[in-house]
Amino acid sequence: MMNLRIETLDDFLPDPLAFREQALKEKFYDIRGPDGEMYRNIHVRPSDELAGLMSERLGKTVRCGYSLLRVNFAGDLPNHAIHTDNGYDRFAAILYLSRPADCVGGTAFWKHKQYGWTNWPDAAAMRRTCKKPEKIVAQLQCEANTDSAWEQTHLAEMKFNRMIVYPTDQFHSRFPFSAFGTTMEDARLIWVSFFSVV
Ligand SMILES: [Fe+2]
Repeated sequence: MMNLRIETLDDFLPDPLAFREQALKEKFYDIRGPDGEMYRNIHVRPSDELAGLMSERLGKTVRCGYSLLRVNFAGDLPNHAIHTDNGYDRFAAILYLSRPADCVGGTAFWKHKQYGWTNWPDAAAMRRTCKKPEKIVAQLQCEANTDSAWEQTHLAEMKFNRMIVYPTDQFHSRFPFSAFGTTMEDARLIWVSFFSVV
C-alpha cells in the first residue's frame, strides 16, 4: 500500500444505483476548502461511510478524513486543473457515479515536462532546480491550467461504480478539464474521500 500509485476497484458498491439515487437527493452547495479555494456543488458526507468497504477491498484498515459528493456540469472548469492534494490525507479515492451512458474521460495523471516531476517535489527536489521554493510553487500554480507544460502519463477511465485510489501528492486532474451534462441526472457526479491507512 505504501507503494500504491493508482489502484482501480471496479463494481465497488453492492448497490450503486441506490447510492446514486440518494446522492442526487442531497443538497449541493459551494464551500471554501482547507486550501482557501471555493468549490462549487459539493455535499459533505460522513467521513467513514465507505471506509469499511474500502478496507475490505484494499486489505488495509482505512481511515477517511474529508469525504464529499461533487457534481459538475458542462462548461464547469476546475479551480486548478492539474494539482496535488497533499494538504489532505496521504491517499485519495474517487468513486464515479455518473450513469454509464454519460461517462466521459476520467482522472488524468501528469508529469511536469520541465522538471520531470510526477509528484509534488520535496525540499531536495526543489533545491536541485536552483530556484527558490516559492518561485517553483508559483510556477506550478501558474501552469496548472496549461496542459502543454505537462505530459499525461495515465488516464484512469471513468466507469459507473468504479473507485480509483491514488496518493494525494501525485499531479492529477479531471480529464477533459470541462465537465459534462446539464442536469443533475446527466452531470459528472463523483464521491471523493481523502484517507490514510493504518
Ligand atoms: Fe484532486
